[in-house]
Amino acid sequence: MGKKIHQLSLDIVNKIAAGEVVERPASVIKELVENSIDAEANDIHIELVDAGKKQILVKDNGAGINNDDIDLALTRHATSKIQDLEDLYSISTLGFRGEALPAIASVSKMNITSKTKDDGAGTKLYAEYGDIKSRNKKAVSNGTAISVEELYSNTPARLKFLRKSNTELSHCISTVNNYAIAYPSVSFKLMHNGRSLFFLPQTNNTEQRLSSVLGTKAKWLSAKSAYEYASGEVFILDPSETDTVREIRIFVNGRFVRDRIVNHAVTSYFEKHLSTGTEPLIVMFLNIDPAFVDANVSPTKNEVRFREPNFIYSFVQSLMEQALKDAAPKRPGQAQTFSANYQTASDAMPQSLNFTTDTKKQSGTEQKRLDIPSSQIKMIGQFKMQYIVMEENEKLILIDQHAAHERINFERITASLADTKELQQLLIPDTLELNIGDSLKFRELIPQLNEKGFSIEEFGRGAKGKATFLIRSIPRILSNIDVKELFLELIKEDLSDVSRQALTKKLALIGARLSCHASIRGKERLSDMEVNQLLNQLGKCEFPYTCPHGRPTKIEITLSDIEKMFKRK
Ligand SMILES: Nc1ncnc2c1ncn2[C@@H]1O[C@H](COP(=O)(O)OP(=O)(O)OP(=O)(O)O)[C@@H](O)[C@H]1O
Ligand SMILES: [Mg+2]
Repeated sequence: MGKKIHQLSLDIVNKIAAGEVVERPASVIKELVENSIDAEANDIHIELVDAGKKQILVKDNGAGINNDDIDLALTRHATSKIQDLEDLYSISTLGFRGEALPAIASVSKMNITSKTKDDGAGTKLYAEYGDIKSRNKKAVSNGTAISVEELYSNTPARLKFLRKSNTELSHCISTVNNYAIAYPSVSFKLMHNGRSLFFLPQTNNTEQRLSSVLGTKAKWLSAKSAYEYASGEVFILDPSETDTVREIRIFVNGRFVRDRIVNHAVTSYFEKHLSTGTEPLIVMFLNIDPAFVDANVSPTKNEVRFREPNFIYSFVQSLMEQALKDAAPKRPGQAQTFSANYQTASDAMPQSLNFTTDTKKQSGTEQKRLDIPSSQIKMIGQFKMQYIVMEENEKLILIDQHAAHERINFERITASLADTKELQQLLIPDTLELNIGDSLKFRELIPQLNEKGFSIEEFGRGAKGKATFLIRSIPRILSNIDVKELFLELIKEDLSDVSRQALTKKLALIGARLSCHASIRGKERLSDMEVNQLLNQLGKCEFPYTCPHGRPTKIEITLSDIEKMFKRK
């Protein structure tokens, strides 16, 4: 006999919603700050105690909540922001589901004080785990203050998922930063344990706000455009003034979102048009007629669906083009493939092993080239099938084959992971089964991995809570390695805070190591042609002298060193 179906209690329903909406203290901040912005506040004050685990207070000077409505604010599916189905397709507010406050309230102790300009006095309400315990009139200034205490204290199982305070705090800061970026006309103050972390005054200058939030003095390249139902503005931290920090922050209609289409349009643009290794910080603001973008895709609203993705793709690329029109162009003739300088066996040896890095900045980007002086290199042989031994003029040269390969693979993978265009669909999806702990870590990485060209989805749960993930595609550059092994290695890493850049590096490091296993290993007899190819490829690397872990790829012993060893000198 089947199990009896029964209606869930409101309390459980709210807790399920809380599970979706409130992942961590930063998600509470997100919801409260969004409500303040929707209430048209231009001054938002946030105070945290113990990274928000003990208390999160968000105070604004917005429109406030009517005294009569205050209970409704804690009622599920109660909102002042939409009326009917039509409105769902023309949303101009950040909130619309009427879920955030009741969800947060169901897993915390919440104080709300609020006053509209029309009400003589305000209201103070206290609720414990969603139950309203008291409601009083209170003389307060216009606006709303919501304090959330002891988050998840009634759901200890959830509490355990919270990370170290430092990690939670960094999520909180990055959440506030994102709203500060999207709303320069609002002042933000963030306090932690009684100390001020930052204050950002109101400004009508987006660039100035961006620089203060991101803590940079570098110049921004920017462009603005409007076309049909979309307008947009992009800010790119001048690549000639900054180190390479690949980061793309995307805001659609005032929401910080993760979006593959915009991301891809941006990365593929600068990969085609800028020197390799140029990885600027990019902030992209898009304002799209709500009829052409669906924000109701995930409960946390950090994804959107575009009605015309192709249009958005070209719109974003045209913004990039405008912004970068004066920036350094891609080097002409820059080899895309590593075999471009391939030489035949007859002239197998490269002319020199000086992988010189020209420190002069040309057109703002660092140039590197394989120096070709008149000296000749002669292959002596291989030692232990691990080291290439050569002579060049007065020097004996040893190359660590394995270190060289790792360097080459590392740089190829890093460059390629940024461009997700080259995918390899797997005819038969690969499956990865993980225990509870590992699956938790892995699940958090899926959105980022999927942005890099993997297509991973959770398939289901097996015995003892084990989770199965289906891998349908992988970036082509990783197609010769065992992707399961790659993920198992990745999970072993400390993943407490992986920025996009750090994740690429981790994947490239593991990928480089695994692809060395898959192709030429440390110990292998190499033909002259293979040696030549290896050296040519190494010469094109940005950092040819060390493997990605910092070990040298090449050691030189001069004739005079040798003579000293033989006590001839
Ligand atoms: N800071 C605030 N100032 C004014 N009104 C507020 C504030 N916070 C909440 N409210 C009122 O409470 C209602 C419920 O807030 P809640 O965040 O739960 O839902 P929402 O914002 O409408 O939708 P969503 O669940 O998508 O965020 C809002 O619709 C708004 O009317
Ligand atoms: Mg809301």
